[in-house]
Amino acid sequence: MKTKKLYINTIGCQMNVYDSEQIEKGLLSMNYKTTEYLDKADLILVNTCAIREKAEQKVFSFLGRLAGLKKKNPGLIIGVGGCVAQQEGEKILKRVPHIDVVFGTHAISRLPGIIKRVESKKCRIIDIGMSQKIEEIETVVNSMDNGKVSSFVTIMQGCDNYCTYCVVPYVRGRESSRDPESIVKEIQGLVNSGVREVTLLGQNVNSYGKKEGLCSFSELMARISKVKGLLRIRFTTSHPKDLSDDLILAFKDNEKLCSHIHLPVQSGSDRVLKRMNRKYTRGLYLEKVDKLRKICPDISITSDFIVGFPGETNADFKETLDLIETMKYESLFAFKYSDRPNAPASHFPHKISDQEKKDRLQKLLDFQERIKREKNQSMVGSTQVVLVEGLSKKQSSGGTSTAETQARESGTDVSKKADMQWTGRTSANKIVNFTADNRLISSIEPFAGNLVNIKIDKAFSHSLWGKYKNIKSIPLSLMAS
Ligand code: SAH
Ligand code: SF4
Ligand code: F3S
Repeated sequence: MKTKKLYINTIGCQMNVYDSEQIEKGLLSMNYKTTEYLDKADLILVNTCAIREKAEQKVFSFLGRLAGLKKKNPGLIIGVGGCVAQQEGEKILKRVPHIDVVFGTHAISRLPGIIKRVESKKCRIIDIGMSQKIEEIETVVNSMDNGKVSSFVTIMQGCDNYCTYCVVPYVRGRESSRDPESIVKEIQGLVNSGVREVTLLGQNVNSYGKKEGLCSFSELMARISKVKGLLRIRFTTSHPKDLSDDLILAFKDNEKLCSHIHLPVQSGSDRVLKRMNRKYTRGLYLEKVDKLRKICPDISITSDFIVGFPGETNADFKETLDLIETMKYESLFAFKYSDRPNAPASHFPHKISDQEKKDRLQKLLDFQERIKREKNQSMVGSTQVVLVEGLSKKQSSGGTSTAETQARESGTDVSKKADMQWTGRTSANKIVNFTADNRLISSIEPFAGNLVNIKIDKAFSHSLWGKYKNIKSIPLSLMAS
């Protein structure tokens, strides 16, 4: 069978990254291999995000650019999937005439069938059906994952929380968890192909399995931690209202769980939190953080904020800055509030002007920058355990694994050059770029995927810089099944 080329443009959150990987795996069975070149593609897919207006605009401007390609190559198939596809449905086919397929967030396992039909019948297809259950994708043995150290694994779909600003419940549907057996099996497969770290994904992982009467989230992580060869577990996102004591305890009991939690607070003002329907107060949030820090003193906490929510006063915004000062977050994401279709807040009165939102966003980011700089600076001189992900961008030319192999294959040349530059992350999720003398690491094959000790020499705002000391021996408890 002739190999065909697939180009995927993934916009949005980690869930979309995972979904795009599932799409690639599913289409492998139809002989589609990915390409980085748009003009070489036989099939172009856009996996879209609807969270803010800007993300949606990005989708339509990309789709617009494809008209010329379709004109040149009428056989080209173009598909739009993900959250904007789910939200807009048929409207996309009407608005963009050169689109062949619109597939929603629950149609990923059906995509190979859809593409087959378009190939043979030359028709346009829309599939935005929302099945309750997540359908598992039959994947061709994890051949794609070779060389990857860290991988996302979606453990649950949808969201039942209905925060008043958010589009996710409408585009991802109701909360639904995957069976623990299939999750563990998938992770085992990833580890067999070299993955050493997984990030478990869900909009609210704390409520994993509750609806279906499966195991609790911390029990799921305990089962996953038994996978031999897996070194680290991360998860995102945890809703503060549901952060349970047993999940907090997992940071002490589960040796593979990294000491990082993303705990989006959105605002420091109780008045705003109430109108956002977040179902916790600033006080309750701080209480939970206190418990977390008692159990795991070096835990790194990150967060999301929305500025300019309808009716947010200067006093409310001050409370947000005050919370940031109290929390001393490791890092945070902040967004200007954006009206979304279906989200109740889009009808709330007292909208904040764009200029005011811009000003508040800038103030917040400047405020956090100082805290972050101080935090990063305090790490200079320390030794950090880093999971090596691959050669740093500066030195890799393509995939990290091939770059590593190429560098090794050019042997003597590389070893004469003093140092190679690598990249990885600490347990707290800080990016560490570091140099390592090739002679020191030449017996560690492959180097990516190992836990190593790095002496930190310099701090930047988004990363740390250091020097390789030695390999960290892995405690038997981390390797045992
Ligand atoms: N389930 C996660 C968040 C998913 S969306 C949670 O509950 O934390 C990621 C982030 O986008 C949110 O945390 C929020 O800060 C931001 N966001 C969501 N809707 C938004 C909107 N309408 N305008 C601006 N930011 C928004
Ligand atoms: Fe959106 Fe709230 Fe659900 Fe997060 S918890 S996805 S912010 S509705
Ligand atoms: Fe965007 Fe959909 Fe994720 S709206 S943030 S891609 S769940």
